[in-house]
Amino acid sequence: MCGIVDYIGKKQAAPILLEGLSKLEYRGYDSAGIAVFDGEEIRVEKATGRLKVLSELTHDGETMPGSVGIGHTRWATHGEPNQVNAHPHYNKNKSIVVVHNGIIENYLSLRQRLIQKGYEFSTETDTEVVAQYLDYYYQKNHDPLTSIIKVLHRVEGAYALGILFKDHPDTLYAVRKDAPLIVGKGKEGNNLIASDATALLKHTRDVYYLENNEIAVLTADSIGFFNVDGDPVEKEESRIDWDESAAEKGGYEHFMLKEMYEQPKTIRDTLNPRIKDGNVVIEELGMTDEEIRNVGRIHIVACGSAYHTGVTGKYVFEGMCRIPVEVDLASEFRYRDPILGEKDLVIVISQSGETADSLEALRITKAAGIMTLGIVNVVGSSIAREADKVMYTWAGPEIAVATTKAYSAQLIALYLLAIRFGQALGTVDAKATASMISELKRLPDQIELLLNNKEKIQNFVNHYLAAQHIFFIGRGIDYAIAMEGSLKLKEISYIHSEAYAAGELKHGTISLIEEGTLVNAIVTQDALFAKTVSNMVEVKSRGAFVMAVTNEGNTEIENTADLVIYIPQTNRFFTDSLAIIPLQLFAYYVSVGRGCDVDKPRNLAKSVTVE
Ligand code: BG6
Repeated sequence: MCGIVDYIGKKQAAPILLEGLSKLEYRGYDSAGIAVFDGEEIRVEKATGRLKVLSELTHDGETMPGSVGIGHTRWATHGEPNQVNAHPHYNKNKSIVVVHNGIIENYLSLRQRLIQKGYEFSTETDTEVVAQYLDYYYQKNHDPLTSIIKVLHRVEGAYALGILFKDHPDTLYAVRKDAPLIVGKGKEGNNLIASDATALLKHTRDVYYLENNEIAVLTADSIGFFNVDGDPVEKEESRIDWDESAAEKGGYEHFMLKEMYEQPKTIRDTLNPRIKDGNVVIEELGMTDEEIRNVGRIHIVACGSAYHTGVTGKYVFEGMCRIPVEVDLASEFRYRDPILGEKDLVIVISQSGETADSLEALRITKAAGIMTLGIVNVVGSSIAREADKVMYTWAGPEIAVATTKAYSAQLIALYLLAIRFGQALGTVDAKATASMISELKRLPDQIELLLNNKEKIQNFVNHYLAAQHIFFIGRGIDYAIAMEGSLKLKEISYIHSEAYAAGELKHGTISLIEEGTLVNAIVTQDALFAKTVSNMVEVKSRGAFVMAVTNEGNTEIENTADLVIYIPQTNRFFTDSLAIIPLQLFAYYVSVGRGCDVDKPRNLAKSVTVE
């Protein structure tokens, strides 16, 4: 996944491109580049590494005069991260320059065809094929739009493109197919294109969301849209109501910590619009009680942390509604030819709404004629627009690669859906609904409390900064919490960690437990309390140090655990929302203690839009 920013207007383009790219670095940060028309030539500067290398190289853009340009920050897919493979890519005489997010799947065959026509390639990237093919058609018709359309009919895959032609320096071109791209309508003759809104907020809140197979044509004073047949397309303008600071750190050391502290607000923002007159009302669901009762089975499909909310969702739906739920990793679901019943509902959960495996799982389901519901955080993203129904989590922009607030918002969305289904199925009556709504409304304050009592964890982690292996155990919903706790630690501290269903430990993995091994036990399900404590005793007797996360009042656990983190009492279906907080803090302080890049951990990206 990469980040694109393009600008055309009255101001100097380079500083605007660099500033915008700095907001998109979470999308990829192994190399970057910008191209600016200086009145005579298109100048291109590229650099390996973080954006600041390019900023220093160009003196924050000062060495690249010109008021139209395109920029890119990269997460390599084709061609290793280096200066040559960094974007923008161009034709032989740099008269056509291109930035690209996505993958041109048939680039090798197109490249071969162009080589037979005498073209030479200087990079390993798929993107260079687009620049060279544009050159091939432009030589024939000298019309940018026609050339772009010709190329679009040949390339296959996912692509968000920003294109600049030297012969047409007063125009910017952009194309979108299966990769996000937004057009920003600036004020007084300044227009922009970007991969997401965070790069635009400084300049405008008025945007157009490009649909698949749409082309945008921007001048300083106009914005036009065309489909891939060259027909003009009318588009509706939207307004973004995120405030710019949402994209800034707000005084926290890391975006991850800031986003952890935004969880109370995120939960209120996701919960409150769906509580009306003491009842759960999910307008966007658009299903009658009858339709809900007709749902035979629910499939939850997702990747990463979103998958873990799906696992919790299974326990909540099955426990609250007695409706069967299957949970699948999207990368498995899409190739296992899943058995979907015509009355099934497939819920695809995704923060970005762009994760390739989840998007494809959605498309496979739709192609089978099965109803789909997307639980998504990014408005206007592919999954949001392609799902039959979409339920937004209102977490705002999430910058840190390791998700926290979007994860918490996804849990709230699942709880609300389960209550709604339970009401229709008659397993949740008005009294239970009222009690659960009041429990949900207490979560934000309870989370604030847990976040503010972080000292205990902060001091504790210092003992484990050099740990090689850390285990998380739990039963039922606690197992789902353990999975997310373990992933958070792995993502940002690079410590090997595993999550296990506590009852499964003795069937093998307990062999890994030795003197001093840290085991984090999640024990919030009262019905499983004794069972999980006995598993804690099993690892203790092999020398493990046990940290337990449990409900207030469960003090007898202190007989077994070496350290206990108490969470406030809440409904047994909602404990994930509280128990995850100390685990997020644990992972965060271990990462900080080990000097890791908390917000941009190695080898990861915020959303993987390639397979
Ligand atoms: C990974 C992110 O790339 O994708 C994780 O680092 C995330 O945080 C996972 O959970 C799935 O992403 P999404 O956007 O589909 O929820």
